[in-house]
Amino acid sequence: MTTPHTVAPSERPHPWDRDAPHAHVDLDALRHNLALLRARTAPGVRLLAAVKADAYGHGLLPVARALAAAGAEAFGVATAAEALALRGAGVPGDVLAFGPVRAGIAELVAADVALTVAQPADLEAIAAAAAGARARVHVKVDTGMGRLGLAPAEARALIAAVDRSPLADLEGVWTHLASADEPDATEPDSATHRQVAAFAALLARLERDGLRPRWAHAANSAGTLLLPEVHHDLVRPGIALYGQPASAWLARRVPDLRPVMRVDAPVTFVKRVTAGTPISYGGTWCAPRDTVVATVRLGYADGYPRSLSSQAEAGHRGRRVPVVGRVCMDQLMLDLGPDGDAELGERVDLIGGGAPTAFELAADAGSFAYELLTRIGPRVVRRYPGT
Ligand SMILES: Cc1ncc(COP(=O)(O)O)c(C=O)c1O
Repeated sequence: MTTPHTVAPSERPHPWDRDAPHAHVDLDALRHNLALLRARTAPGVRLLAAVKADAYGHGLLPVARALAAAGAEAFGVATAAEALALRGAGVPGDVLAFGPVRAGIAELVAADVALTVAQPADLEAIAAAAAGARARVHVKVDTGMGRLGLAPAEARALIAAVDRSPLADLEGVWTHLASADEPDATEPDSATHRQVAAFAALLARLERDGLRPRWAHAANSAGTLLLPEVHHDLVRPGIALYGQPASAWLARRVPDLRPVMRVDAPVTFVKRVTAGTPISYGGTWCAPRDTVVATVRLGYADGYPRSLSSQAEAGHRGRRVPVVGRVCMDQLMLDLGPDGDAELGERVDLIGGGAPTAFELAADAGSFAYELLTRIGPRVVRRYPGT
């Protein structure tokens, strides 16, 4: 099975990739971030890397292979297709599907993928589809996220039902933190603290009932980096592996993350314009003086936010230059200044490198790094220097 950005090496490179925007994925930076997260956890705590959504846009298989080789024990995915892509490629390690699945259960069980049960119907679906094979199950409990799972009191009955089921192995119990990247996360009266306490109380009760499964887990990146009390048996970082802080508050507390992705794109046209010349759709930007404008092959269809029209900077020859006029579907324009110059085909940094980071650009676009990274489209060729 292939996923959009993980074509077999023989299919890459295409001669025309030279004209495409490139996402350079720095696997050394990925390994650095993994080590940084590891350094925050006690020995014996497992690390499950969140690699859903094509490893947050970085390319599922190259990222998962690099993480597995660097010691990540498990992988978290959102869909059956992502889980089976990992298994199909033979990436070592456990795989947990975070979301309840209805389609493909038999294939997932046969592929030894662990499944999430958030409600009795999920267990019934597994029992109906598993064709006699035992499914590995992690029960999701809602301690305050409000997305999936039963509250702890009701979840206990579900956990007991999984434990009794002849078609399921109760392997884990987990919850998800809603606000661990907020400035109050480490305060004793915070929403995060209430989640942490509710989960700990549930685990204590399961222990007393003889139902405590092997893997209890709750920590996303923020929890892994800042809340040791919620590490339990396994942590599930995502965004920090990719070198982006989950929030500005976290960025100040954990300054050593290294961005993994840098996006650059080639200049396709250069022109000298006179003062007053309108640039791009709607003429929303007119040259304030005679200047040189470069057109670059990256647009909103590639994931560069249109809301950054005239609101962002790019990196060109060691300096920052403004993005001017509306960002188009496939192209955007840069004001290189009156003395500016660019070669056709010359590459300009748009995300990371000489340009602002994904975290900074996303904030300026009214979004956050998760969305910016996962929207970088399939026309942006992923490259893995050094592999
Ligand atoms: C269930 C689950 N665990 C872990 C993560 C990783 O979170 P983060 O990227 O904030 O570290 C996610 C991502 O949203 C998630 O949905």
